[in-house]
Amino acid sequence: MPPDASDNPKRLRIDQLREEIGKHDHLYHKLSEPEISDFEYDILKKELEALEAELPQDQRKDSPTQSVGDDRLEAFEQYQHRQPMLSLDNTYNQEELFEFDQRLKRVLDREGPLDYVVEPKIDGVAVSLTYEDGVFVRAVTRGNGSEGDDVTQNVANIESIPRQLIGTDLPRWIEVRGEIFMRLEEFERLNQDRAAAGEALFANPRNLASGTVKMLDQVEARKRKLDIVLYGLGACEPQTFSKQSDFHQWLKDQSFPVVQMLESVSGIDQAWDSIQNLDTERINFDYATDGAVVKVDDIALQKEAGFTSKAPRWAIAYKFKAEEAETILGKITIQIGRTGKLTPVANLKPVQLAGTTVKRATLHNEDEIQRKDIREGDTVIIQKAGEIIPQVVRVLVEKRPADSLPFSFPALLDSMGIKAERIPGEAAWRILGDDNPVQVRRKIVHYASRQCMDIENLGTAVVDQLVTEGLIHDIADLYTLESGQLEPLEGFARKSAENLVNGIQASKTADLWRLIHGLGIPHVGAQGAKDLVQAFHALDRLSAASTEDLAAVHGVGNIMAESIHTFFAADKNKQLIDRLKAHGLKLEEERAETGEQPLSGKTVVLTGSLPSLSRGEATAMIEAAGGRASSSVSKKTDYVLAGESAGSKLDKARKLGIPILGEAEFLNLLS
Ligand code: IVH
Repeated sequence: MPPDASDNPKRLRIDQLREEIGKHDHLYHKLSEPEISDFEYDILKKELEALEAELPQDQRKDSPTQSVGDDRLEAFEQYQHRQPMLSLDNTYNQEELFEFDQRLKRVLDREGPLDYVVEPKIDGVAVSLTYEDGVFVRAVTRGNGSEGDDVTQNVANIESIPRQLIGTDLPRWIEVRGEIFMRLEEFERLNQDRAAAGEALFANPRNLASGTVKMLDQVEARKRKLDIVLYGLGACEPQTFSKQSDFHQWLKDQSFPVVQMLESVSGIDQAWDSIQNLDTERINFDYATDGAVVKVDDIALQKEAGFTSKAPRWAIAYKFKAEEAETILGKITIQIGRTGKLTPVANLKPVQLAGTTVKRATLHNEDEIQRKDIREGDTVIIQKAGEIIPQVVRVLVEKRPADSLPFSFPALLDSMGIKAERIPGEAAWRILGDDNPVQVRRKIVHYASRQCMDIENLGTAVVDQLVTEGLIHDIADLYTLESGQLEPLEGFARKSAENLVNGIQASKTADLWRLIHGLGIPHVGAQGAKDLVQAFHALDRLSAASTEDLAAVHGVGNIMAESIHTFFAADKNKQLIDRLKAHGLKLEEERAETGEQPLSGKTVVLTGSLPSLSRGEATAMIEAAGGRASSSVSKKTDYVLAGESAGSKLDKARKLGIPILGEAEFLNLLS
């Protein structure tokens, strides 16, 4: 009979840890939405490893400590790696790093210092690129280590990946391993767009990168710029490399993007110095790093040292601890996403952390609050590990006020009058219906925002006021407002009341794409709205379009098409549009009548800086001439408008034979 876990506290803890780690593996690898920091995760794993060390081998087999996780999703085709893609052992302390060196010397029977390379550990998603006879054929995720998901479609958007290797002496095939990541600048750009659209922000660049790699909506995926660095060698036929550092040089010669600051060192002391140096320099990198990787340089020695079931014995990751700060948690409030998802947020006593003042931290969900027993009034430790939104790591229970009470999420919802349900099978709650005051306000604020109807002085505070006073219930009600109704309200005087009403009235003639974007149709952003106007020219034609008609529009994918169709099929939306029409809003694009324009139906990509036009001006001119401005060059691109220091986009355009215009030619074309 197998030992009964409940009789044995150690077995019980092992089972508990296995289940918990399994859950976090799923959140991290499959959903790209981890709930705990890497550090917390690593602590759980170390505890489990220590307990399992005493178990017989066969009882360790199915443990998460014996695998690299699993990112495979059903929607993708799987592909077998020629050489398994492993993970790395990791440590947070110097002693263990030195033990790694000692162990390795024993295994290799070496006395003197080993030659290592030290390089940054990029916090992204592992990927394997396969080249056959020099041609890039496939990108596959790590998956379960033996087989991963074929993500070539999305990865192929990364311009810096060479499509063709150069030279004559090329391997028959080679797997090049690396990390896909998102630059901090791009991450911030995407979050600014989300903020402007009133959507929940992405938590950190690593989750966003891994979510993007696995996106099924390729049109959406293309809007998010991913980057890559290559650092590792998988299978290679014939085997041509004898040193890790030679392989790095080969990557550089082949114009692969590589890790910066790679250093060749002799012995673990020098490796340690190099790690320290990296930790001070990495603040200047424009992408997230979470450690340094130390690898044996000699590939023959790597082979001799070999692998465990999940990691090589010849390499280790030294992970940098995220910066932490102590502060007091005041109130817990709720953030409502555009889809109605409710996220608890900790409002903190402002504190300095990793160069910024932090006032809020995410609490993720109800379970997280319970697991950490987080309460209002607690003193907490917060941490920022690549995230722009910090997390609460733990509570300092010893500093807890005597009268503190456990926190109840449902009670908070009740007190705010929010009707919500917990999404089945998830830890998240979602608000019921979309006619609650919070959703109503959010929709109106979005409609009035700069990226939509651009109605001046109609921000969150004024919308709150108008909804609370019962003057408006939806966007169509805005057009019923009269200055006499506004004047008595707090903060309004005659002039400001008139100005607001005039601003609202003026929006009736805004460009049609602004109105379409303002309707808040899920998945339709500003560019999507412009694409739709270009194709349909009038709202009644758009609302009558079938899903197939919609999906045929350049820039519209299946998910967006489905979403638009569902929106216009709903009675309440039909009524809303009838009311907007009755108020005299412009529901047609005048340009439709002007007939063929110089860039009708054409896609133009802008690259480099033009002598006199700014990017914004050039984009506006392309659109005014009936064209579509896009950011990536593909076979569908009609022209590339190139200025000074145009880079890879220009090269790609040349390769694809796409006509290239200078500013003068562009202006000529439009005149
Ligand atoms: S070498 C045989 N080098 O970190 C494993 N990995 O935590 C070779 N990573 O699975 C991996 N930067 O996805 C290596 N410079 C670097 C890295 C790196 C990031 C990732 C990689 C790996 C994970 C382990």
